[in-house]
Amino acid sequence: MDLQFTRHRRLRQNANMRALVRENHLSIDDFIYPLFVAEGKDIKKEITSMPGVYNLSLDHLEEEMNEVVALGIKSVLLFGIPLEKDECGGQAYHDHGIVQEATRLIKAKFPEVIVIADTCLCEYTSHGHCGLIEGDQVLNDASLELLVQTAVSQAKAGADIIAPSNMMDGFVVAIRAGLDEAGFENVPIMSYAVKYASAFYGPFRDAADSTPQFGDRKAYQMDPANRMEALREAESDLMEGADFLIVKPGLPYLDIVRDVKNNFNLPLVIYNVSGEYSMVKAAAQNGWIDEKRIVMEMLTGMKRAGCDLIITYHAKDAARWLKEQ
Ligand code: PBG
Repeated sequence: MDLQFTRHRRLRQNANMRALVRENHLSIDDFIYPLFVAEGKDIKKEITSMPGVYNLSLDHLEEEMNEVVALGIKSVLLFGIPLEKDECGGQAYHDHGIVQEATRLIKAKFPEVIVIADTCLCEYTSHGHCGLIEGDQVLNDASLELLVQTAVSQAKAGADIIAPSNMMDGFVVAIRAGLDEAGFENVPIMSYAVKYASAFYGPFRDAADSTPQFGDRKAYQMDPANRMEALREAESDLMEGADFLIVKPGLPYLDIVRDVKNNFNLPLVIYNVSGEYSMVKAAAQNGWIDEKRIVMEMLTGMKRAGCDLIITYHAKDAARWLKEQ
């Protein structure tokens, strides 16, 4: 027999040969770990739909950070859960708001850790929308002013990176101008440039109690059916001065990650969101999947799709598994 074919298996024959030709690698340096910091005392409440993830008050934050740092994780993303919410989200831009205080605490005890502050209003507004409302509309330009105040107060508290997730138009240019004017020209903006109106945020909204009280977020977050729109969103944020671009959610949007990577050269971040985490955890708890292998395969797939950094609730587990290897 004289068959012509390629012997792909030559490069797969043993572990060291496979390691030699492996194209993508996960590193602990890729991970950003989200933390939910809650106003109040002695709170360490596991989020029902997100096993292993907690709402933490400041008195429990240091112990959590010790663990995070011991695992080699260098960046955290802070979400705040205030005691009081109001129409205008006043606790988001209060100088002693929960994210501002958590930032001060972390920077005092762990100065080398990169603190990324999520800049949004939805966790702080009584109506649960990401901006000011008038009637049933979320106001764009009026919301920008509050988002700028939020970002500046977070930078004042010591945040290393500002991550605006509100999806108002012009938030990057407005926040950039506000930061510069306040003397924070060296604080980068990690923009949630491409953020879809996704059902995968469900568990997060339980955790942060940020479900909109009326309507939904479809008039500001993107339609999951759209691809070209993602490029327009990424382009405008780049032009407005973003330093990083985020695509969110992760797994169902890997094609978008690749598109953004191919078209723009900013550091690209994927957000492996709450619903993606919950699905893995639920299946693992039922014994239906091999959690470690599934998580590492998912995270590697995200790197292969083209992202540089991964915001993930799996970060602590994945860091542990990488260390074991
Ligand atoms: C705030 C915000 C949300 C998430 C991050 N920032 C929720 C939302 O838009 O409703 C979701 C993160 C996750 O699901 O893990 N705008």
